[in-house]
Amino acid sequence: MDSSALNGNLQSRIFLIGFMGSGKSTLGSHLARKIGFEHVDMDHLIEETAGMTIPGIFSEHGEAVFRKWERDILLELCRQEKVVVSTGGGAPCHNDLIDIMNRNGTTIYIELPPAVLKDRLLHSRTERPLIKGKSEQELLHYITGKLKEREPYYRRARFIVDGTSLRADELVKLLAD
Ligand code: S3P
Repeated sequence: MDSSALNGNLQSRIFLIGFMGSGKSTLGSHLARKIGFEHVDMDHLIEETAGMTIPGIFSEHGEAVFRKWERDILLELCRQEKVVVSTGGGAPCHNDLIDIMNRNGTTIYIELPPAVLKDRLLHSRTERPLIKGKSEQELLHYITGKLKEREPYYRRARFIVDGTSLRADELVKLLAD
């Protein structure tokens, strides 16, 4: 599908939000390809800009600095056109970023239950400092608590979609309707 089928300013930036492991990066890259937008993975952009990995940023500078850089990058992205942004799982929940995203684009929350997120994260090869070294049980406990804390932010997205076997085609349809 051609991106001209997407109307209005709001749709020139699409923000995928959701918990770690919800599939934002893969879906974002497929969605961008389908609608002819650029795809930006916020975590990758932060790593590139900082010249350090996310775990390195957390261990050397701490989470507060990471959140500040995350905000700076997001503000930069709000000046870009025709972009699909795969955000980091915590981004919408810090520094008013959900409001900034809602003002500057279309937000989509990819929703998944804790048990599914746990299974996906257990099998993921991405190193994530917030869950590093947790046993399966600890991970489920962490996800359940953190999701409860984050959901009020995630639920402010313009669209909420079930992430179970979600395909980029369905997101294209949602945006075009
Ligand atoms: C985080 C999620 C990660 C990354 C960082 C913090 C979070 O991104 O931004 O490790 O606070 O949930 P993903 O959602 O892509 O794993």
